[in-house]
Amino acid sequence: MRKQGTQYRCANCGHTEPKWLGRCPECGFWNTFKEQNAPAGSFKAEIKGESYSLPILSIDPASGTRTSSGSAEFDRVLGGGFMRGSAVLLGGEPGIGKSTFLLQICAKIETKGRVLYVSGEESPAQIRMRADRLDALKPNLEVLCSSDLDRIMSVFESVRPVFIVIDSIQTVYTPEAGAVPGTANQIKYCTQEMTEWAKTHDAIIVFVAHVTKEGLIAGPKAAEHIVDAVLAFEQAEGDLRAMRASKNRFGSTDELGLYRMGQTGLSEITDPSGVLLVRREGEVPSGVAVAIVHEGSRVLLVEIQALTVPAKAGFTRVYSDRIDASRVARVAAVIEKQTSLRLSDQDLYVNVAGGVRLTEPGIDLALAAALYSARTGQALPARAALAGELSLAGELRPVRQMGKRARAARSLGLSVILGPAEGPYGEAEEEKAGAGRDRSQAWIKTSSLKAAIIELWRPR
Ligand code: TYD
Ligand code: MG
Repeated sequence: MRKQGTQYRCANCGHTEPKWLGRCPECGFWNTFKEQNAPAGSFKAEIKGESYSLPILSIDPASGTRTSSGSAEFDRVLGGGFMRGSAVLLGGEPGIGKSTFLLQICAKIETKGRVLYVSGEESPAQIRMRADRLDALKPNLEVLCSSDLDRIMSVFESVRPVFIVIDSIQTVYTPEAGAVPGTANQIKYCTQEMTEWAKTHDAIIVFVAHVTKEGLIAGPKAAEHIVDAVLAFEQAEGDLRAMRASKNRFGSTDELGLYRMGQTGLSEITDPSGVLLVRREGEVPSGVAVAIVHEGSRVLLVEIQALTVPAKAGFTRVYSDRIDASRVARVAAVIEKQTSLRLSDQDLYVNVAGGVRLTEPGIDLALAAALYSARTGQALPARAALAGELSLAGELRPVRQMGKRARAARSLGLSVILGPAEGPYGEAEEEKAGAGRDRSQAWIKTSSLKAAIIELWRPR
């Protein structure tokens, strides 16, 4: 009979099986299974006899508690802090600030226990110099410069950290997983090993992953299935950095964290509603419209800029990298159908001031107004702000948090606030928005794109 707690792991891909097999069902390699004892304390070792389930009431709820990262923005993106025993992958282009950011997080979290920063890319002296600048010289912060998995794992055992950073997962290497470092197999195997250690020791582990210009976490794609959350740092305009989750087992994926890179590392932007707004005196140029965006739990006011030029080729193109190009094409088609304004012979350029990528459906109306304004040359009224989703039939669909959006827009001095007729304009919602007796003035309610265009360009 098989020994209790024994498992077999494929040396090529890290796949585990309860019994030895000649060929790995995962990667198809032969004779790669090696016997391994499941680490004590892991749930696999706790399995007694044939009973594989646990009464839900017997599970310790404390195993699901969260630990604050020390950064409110980061906590929000994570869904309320780190889950104990969780693994996170942080991707981003080289030079965007991943190492800087995580060293800062290490310095904040070290009050909770020993913290280990593993670097395969920099020397101890380089890390010390950076830590100096970031005010990260803390007694509980340990540094290890190594890319050898075995060595890293043995330091885990001796240091017993509560928080670990692996910078980066592409540099970690073990001869057990093939001859070449940085391959998908290496990444998968090493991520699996280290994640398992973290889970069985209730530690939090963060892996840094370099991504290519195309935005894909190329090699580390293999690691995405192993970790609990996949986050990415994106470059917005200048020193602005945006952080988003593309996978999150313990929270939503629509939160947006905003940071600024400065002399002493990354600092949080705690009230971001106006940071992306372009302040203009007097007349507004044609082709721009302000969207009231609700990303995650916060409102941002963002200027959408559009330009239309007659297409030179026999076909037209959409140039838009901050808003999905297919959304731009769809909104342009709705404008053409509803207003008879011809856009199908134009090349469309769309940009978002501040460089943040927008995914929320509520930007449709502002995008439509910017395109309409660009094509007709008629500017929107000053201090206008818009929110609403467009259906293919040209109706304005309701979007969430109308009261909160109106409040944010008004507090930034915007007064012509246009939105859908239907919506969560509930009594309570508007009361909270402080609309009170002038409730009708909170939003100019329009039911269709056509009505919104008439409202925006009526003489006032
Ligand atoms: P880094 O964290 O090394 O990026 P990554 O790990 O994602 O490759 O950040 C590198 C850039 O950040 C580098 O151009 C210098 C800049 N930087 C600052 O502007 N301020 C700082 O305090 C630090 C430490 C770096
Ligand atoms: Mg780095």
